[in-house]
Amino acid sequence: MTLRRWLALASVAALANGELVQVPNLQLPSTAAAHQKAVVDLFNVSYTAYKSVSFREQVVMYSLVNRKYAWSHDDLLPVTKSYSDGLDGWGATVSDALDTMWLMGFHDWFNEAVDYVATVDFSLSKTNSAVSLFETTIRHVGGLLSAYELSGQNQRYSALVKKAEQVAQQMTYAFVGNNAIPYGNVNFADHTPVSGLSSIATAGTLTLEWNRLSLYTGNDTYRQLAEKSVQHVINMPKVLPGMPTELIDPSTGKPSGTYVSWGSGSDSYYEYLIKYPRLTNTNDNSYTDAWLLAVDSSIKVLLKYSTVGNWAYLADYDGHNILHVGSHLACFYGGNWILGGKLTNNDTIYDLGLQLTDACWNTYASTATGIGPEGFAYISSDGSYTGNSPPTPDQLLFYNTHGYYITASDYILRPEVLESNFYAWRATGDTKYLDNAVSVIQSFQQYLPTTVAYTGINDVNNKMSSKSNDMPSFWFGEVLKYLYLTFDDPNNISLDNYVFNTECHPFKTPTAKNIYGSVA
Ligand SMILES: *[C@@H]1O[C@H](CO)[C@@H](O)[C@H](O)[C@H]1NC(C)=O
Ligand SMILES: *[C@@H]1O[C@H](CO)[C@@H](O)[C@H](O)[C@H]1NC(C)=O
Ligand SMILES: *[C@@H]1O[C@H](CO)[C@@H](O)[C@H](O)[C@H]1NC(C)=O
Ligand SMILES: *[C@@H]1O[C@H](CO)[C@@H](O)[C@H](O)[C@H]1NC(C)=O
Repeated sequence: MTLRRWLALASVAALANGELVQVPNLQLPSTAAAHQKAVVDLFNVSYTAYKSVSFREQVVMYSLVNRKYAWSHDDLLPVTKSYSDGLDGWGATVSDALDTMWLMGFHDWFNEAVDYVATVDFSLSKTNSAVSLFETTIRHVGGLLSAYELSGQNQRYSALVKKAEQVAQQMTYAFVGNNAIPYGNVNFADHTPVSGLSSIATAGTLTLEWNRLSLYTGNDTYRQLAEKSVQHVINMPKVLPGMPTELIDPSTGKPSGTYVSWGSGSDSYYEYLIKYPRLTNTNDNSYTDAWLLAVDSSIKVLLKYSTVGNWAYLADYDGHNILHVGSHLACFYGGNWILGGKLTNNDTIYDLGLQLTDACWNTYASTATGIGPEGFAYISSDGSYTGNSPPTPDQLLFYNTHGYYITASDYILRPEVLESNFYAWRATGDTKYLDNAVSVIQSFQQYLPTTVAYTGINDVNNKMSSKSNDMPSFWFGEVLKYLYLTFDDPNNISLDNYVFNTECHPFKTPTAKNIYGSVA
């Protein structure tokens, strides 16, 4: 039996049996409520700052109107108390924060946010910029539809579907002619894509959101485009079995280069391969098979253990050499392997998911602030090549204690390590994952505050680090939601009833076998 055929049989059996992801009857310790409250407070302060300023500050600024720092804009700039519009200015924070507000019980803010969204014209960029297919899909389409679903598909909130459809309708212009692969960016004003290469992350990260959009609008075009795109990637030539290069030319559908990675540019292609069949219960095994093949190659070629500490990492591969690098972004892989290992009933993959999660957590546990860095590297038995300069004496010193060294020292409010930690808690019930989350909350409270909210820091290994000046929307959509859910009743948003899009927006999984079975 070929590996491919064997994998196919294994995956059918597992998904049909409906393997459980979470430990049954998992209970929270009594201390959880206080930690959850601390997360709600972080959200409360952050969103209050995004919305407006206090009366006292208004007086200081000699302003009689209710001056807003960032309301309706994409990001709050928490140091300069201003805003930025890097994602077309529709209010990415609002779309990303909606479902978190619903779950945390900020229902007045939720209503206010829906009423705001209803007024936004998503058919034109407010900044006259090209629109990113990837970012707009995961934040706006994902955020709006998840909020609609969680709040009970209520008529009161039907604008959420209308607006998701309005923005997606414009994004369909990323698909030119009969091309299977969309361009990465579209000019909404004249319906033309921006020429250039696309990535497998863009081509493979539409299925969850566009499937739900088709379900709620009754227009199947979105599901068909998303599936056509990822099917092209699944079937195109590979660098390693199951692992394509990260770049594709949308005009030809041909791969460009030979770079393979679980990090930026490729990450959520792999993530969605196992999540999409879970969302749909489809009988089509191609998604799960492609995921299993990629994981198999990753175990054979990319899995590396550090010579210090024996920590597990997934390296990058440029077609010739292994690059011993890691990133905060790629640290979603632990949670993804935990989920996929459970769904396919494969203990090897599941155990590796836990090892990868623990190694990513070690990047937090080892720094002066208890927060992990944006980029890192390591040395394994096959060497230390990173494609960049070799480690400095200081980096080697750090490596010899911690089993990794820092190559990009900033923290920009990313979620992935906490995401994997959340999966590990729900799948194992081991309270060490709750302890990790408690420690992060304390680090956030200690090292991230500005006068009005929280912000990133430039050096996670320096308690006196200078601060950056940005609160990206994923702080509201992902970081605070994963932390909140870590301390929530495990029956709420159970991993056995929901899948999360790559921006942490949960979608209910159907119990029916049919792709358009009820979502109830
Ligand atoms: C949010 O903060 C405000 C001001 O401190 C407080 O009055 C309110 O109760 C908080 N809301 C929640 C849900 O914690
Ligand atoms: C379905 O959506 C596509 C893409 O936005 C659009 O071109 C088409 O007109 C829609 N079909 C209907 C029946 O609304
Ligand atoms: C689990 O997956 C690994 C990696 O692909 C494979 O080698 C192993 O045979 C699988 N085990 C089972 C029980 O399916
Ligand atoms: C979540 O769990 C809490 C505590 O068990 C419960 O009070 C609450 O209603 C649940 N929320 C949802 C949305 O199910």
